[in-house]
Amino acid sequence: MNNVMKTEFSALAENEAFARAVAAAFVMPLDPTVEELTEIKTAVSEAVSNSIIHGYEGCADRNEAKVIMECTISDGGKLVITIEDNGVGIGDVEKAMEPMFSTGDSEERSGMGFTVMESFTDRLKVRSEIGKGTTVIMTKYLDIISGI
Ligand SMILES: Nc1ncnc2c1ncn2[C@@H]1O[C@H](COP(=O)(O)OP(=O)(O)OP(=O)(O)O)[C@@H](O)[C@H]1O
Ligand SMILES: [Mg+2]
Repeated sequence: MNNVMKTEFSALAENEAFARAVAAAFVMPLDPTVEELTEIKTAVSEAVSNSIIHGYEGCADRNEAKVIMECTISDGGKLVITIEDNGVGIGDVEKAMEPMFSTGDSEERSGMGFTVMESFTDRLKVRSEIGKGTTVIMTKYLDIISGI
């Protein structure tokens, strides 16, 4: 079974919950475990909140600021989730991905978003360009019973 969906939404804080719910609903036909579902929702939340908070930091027109989420399910339960923004971009991706690294407010941000995405998925890839935006690609292999 191959299945694809794509959704585009405004970079507003309330859409973090929307994105989580949409990703969870999309994987439902694969009958994920509660643990897998929690991991997917949490990883999506981290990526989407990064786009909203950091990608579009200081952006006044939130209707123009968009986040795009694309999910693909392919044979064998391979789930690929891509979350993209056209925001400020990241200068040093390697540094940004280090545990506890954050450019945000130290009271609110712990710098653990990428670490969470990494531990809750099987593969994490981050592409970014200053002034152009950031794309986060997460791959997760779901434990599905073949033949169903
Ligand atoms: N989409 C993005 N656009 C621009 N910068 C980003 C983006 N995502 C992450 N970053 C940069 O990478 C840093 C690390 O991100 P990470 O999610 O690990 O931590 P955080 O968001 O600062 O804190 P936390 O996620 O724990 O609240 C951010 O502080 C920010 O500088
Ligand atoms: Mg974060």
